Amino acid sequence: MKEKRTKIQVVLTDEPIGQEITVMGWVRTKRASKNVAFIALNDGSTVNNLQVVADAEKFGEGLLRKITTGASIAATGKIVESQGAGQSCELVAEHIEIFGEADPDKYPLQPKKHSLEFLREIAHLRPRTNTFSAVMRVRHAMAFAVHKFFNDQGFFYINTPIITSSDAEGAGETFRVTNFELDKIPKTDEGKVDFEKDFFEKEANLTVSGQLEGELAAMALSEIYTFGPTFRAENSNTTRHLAEFWMIEPEMAFYDLQDNMDLAEAMLKYLVKYALDNCVDDLAFLEKRIIEEEKNKPQNERSEMTLTERLKFVLENDFERVTYTDAIDILRNSKPNKKKKFSYIIEGWGADLQSEHERFLVEKHFKKPVILYNYPKDIKAFYMRQNDDGKTVGAMDILFPGIGEIIGGSQREERLELLTQRMKEMDIPEDEMWWYLDTRRFGAVPHSGYGLGFERMIQFVTGMGNIRDVIAFPRTPGNCEF
Ligand code: 4AD
Ligand code: MG
Repeated sequence: MKEKRTKIQVVLTDEPIGQEITVMGWVRTKRASKNVAFIALNDGSTVNNLQVVADAEKFGEGLLRKITTGASIAATGKIVESQGAGQSCELVAEHIEIFGEADPDKYPLQPKKHSLEFLREIAHLRPRTNTFSAVMRVRHAMAFAVHKFFNDQGFFYINTPIITSSDAEGAGETFRVTNFELDKIPKTDEGKVDFEKDFFEKEANLTVSGQLEGELAAMALSEIYTFGPTFRAENSNTTRHLAEFWMIEPEMAFYDLQDNMDLAEAMLKYLVKYALDNCVDDLAFLEKRIIEEEKNKPQNERSEMTLTERLKFVLENDFERVTYTDAIDILRNSKPNKKKKFSYIIEGWGADLQSEHERFLVEKHFKKPVILYNYPKDIKAFYMRQNDDGKTVGAMDILFPGIGEIIGGSQREERLELLTQRMKEMDIPEDEMWWYLDTRRFGAVPHSGYGLGFERMIQFVTGMGNIRDVIAFPRTPGNCEF
């Protein structure tokens, strides 16, 4: 009969001293002396390992030699109080079964510190490191908390299409979807690509946002959210951009911009609190990791707060709500702007903010999360609600320390005439968007929504510096391995 497996997380929490149990997992390290081998076993249920003690005489050199870093085993035996430091209990093996060996000369993960860059090249194995398994567990907890937050407030989870024919943000950064044979693309008489012969009989692309379809659902269910993958072919090789990322997009009927901000702030705080309450071991591990990493940095580049302090800081402070216009004044008169330390100097009203400006506002000026709102209409998407000043729209971006923009959202333009006029100005074909405009023709209501970049949130909560290290298989320009 197959042994019943106990998860290591359960063993370390319950400490069932005296009981016989079976654990299964992957060997992290093995220390062997003449008489005994100490095996650190991890099964991914927790960042902590269980020590398995194997008597050398009992198991023989032949078997113990095969138990190397990366090998997978099952071990059955009694749990006893641990003699050594660093763990409270350990398993004294009665029986060990090897599932799969891992040739130590070939297994790329050695029991030492590997660089994050190297680990990205072996993304198929990096979940077996403490850092990545911790990040993946926190990521899971955050996804669960997103659903819990919205479900508890009566929001409905809807799934918007991945393949679409619209470019919601109008930034022209879409990936095309086609089943044309690329060396035999049908052309029209004018020599243009004949999309009528393509699979969907029109141009199609991967979605950059589920918002437009989300709005349709909100115009019936009142409060909805999406949580799905989005795709952007923007050629930005930064620590905060992916070509494929996950976005959470709530959309709410009857919300104005202030309601929108209130919901976004409450959600971010809820997620942070959920992590602090439920990811204790993983956050403690990640915090230690950052402290170690920061030792290699010059004193003035080290962060003033530890990871948990940063998380608590977000929890305990009201976000600063500032208009774009006030922010531009602050930036224009700031030291780095006057001393030309910014890569993009702020000359005046209308400038698009770069992440250096966003981070200055959050990290240096206000020293807390900032919600910027009422942006110039010319630097924002067509669907945002036009303010009475004729210059700004009811947009809001939430800026976080170390990250910059984590949320982008707005009140939506629900007035048909103003919306179609704006679409004309921005060259957005009205006939393609007939379905979107119908919600303004029939039973239109004021409504708002926003998008949270899930990976940026995970970056903030885990303290990971590069967005490529918070998603299992990152897609960036030039990278589509695995
Ligand atoms: O500000 P964005 O472009 O807003 C929208 O897409 C709206 N349709 C959202 C809405 O109102 N429903 O993107 C929203 C968030 C950004 O604030 C950022 O956190 C994240 O998505 N994001 C990215 N994350 C990783 N890689 C990228 N290339 C990202 N682009 C945006
Ligand atoms: Mg944005």
